[in-house]
Amino acid sequence: MHQIVADARASGATVGCIPTMGYLHDGHASLIRAASKKHRLVVVSIFVNPTQFGPSEDFERYPRNLDHDLKVVAEAGGAVVFAPTVEEMYPDGARSTIHIPQISEILEGASRPTHFDGVATVVSRLFEAMHPDEAFFGQKDLQQTLVIEHMVSASEIDDVRNVTVTVLPTQREHNGLARSSRNVYLTAEDREDATAIYRALTGASEKMADGENSRANIEAAMRRTLDSVSGLTVDYAVAVEASTLQTKDLFISGEQVALLIAVRLGRTRLIDNMVVKMP
Ligand code: PAJ
Repeated sequence: MHQIVADARASGATVGCIPTMGYLHDGHASLIRAASKKHRLVVVSIFVNPTQFGPSEDFERYPRNLDHDLKVVAEAGGAVVFAPTVEEMYPDGARSTIHIPQISEILEGASRPTHFDGVATVVSRLFEAMHPDEAFFGQKDLQQTLVIEHMVSASEIDDVRNVTVTVLPTQREHNGLARSSRNVYLTAEDREDATAIYRALTGASEKMADGENSRANIEAAMRRTLDSVSGLTVDYAVAVEASTLQTKDLFISGEQVALLIAVRLGRTRLIDNMVVKMP
């Protein structure tokens, strides 16, 4: 990987990378297409990262299909695929980890306590391996993008600190469901139930466009939509300040507000979000 990047750089290429856990879909493909427009060398990493899964989570059964992934990459314009083994990424057995305080500890971090340490650690190591100028991430995982931005700006490793982090919009299915590798776990009935997530987000954003600025009212509106689906359990449904994910009671005109939802459908946990500017 180092040799490929060094050779490309020597010939004047810039490098764009897309870290993924594979089982690629059109959300990933949109990032690959965007990177291809800006960089001569595009690297897609495919690595199901064990350190970001909790002990009772789905690491073992997380979907994997490298042949399918290589086709998606080719259709999105082609790229170098970096698919390391666990031993290659963690030769030390992951004894050193990166913890980004505060932002890692709320919301997803509260439900999945070691998740963002695993994400920050593996993305730092992937950046060292791929040495990109720019890395592309999806807004689908909004809190993850904030953790990674903090990790990059706090890094003491030049190959990490100098990476530009770019965040691109969430790709959705026709019914609004955010594309996710975990959608394969959903039954037909789950998929129908899951559309409530997008309805809750759009419903709340419409209320905000009409001037609703109370956190409690916005959150209650999302809850009502989600609670009307019996098969779905809400983990959280919150309206927070978008750049810090901190809570506040009233949003002011012009403020960017993030609506964040996490739900459970059977054994599957789904997250989604929308960022709304207060009128
Ligand atoms: P993964 O879930 O495979 O996602 C890889 C990248 O694709 C992330 O930046 C994610 O936000 C983006 N993505 C996923 N679904 C998307 C969608 N519907 N629209 C747009 N972008 C989407 O996120 C991870 O892997 C891992 O945590 C990783 C960063 C690779 C670290 O292991």
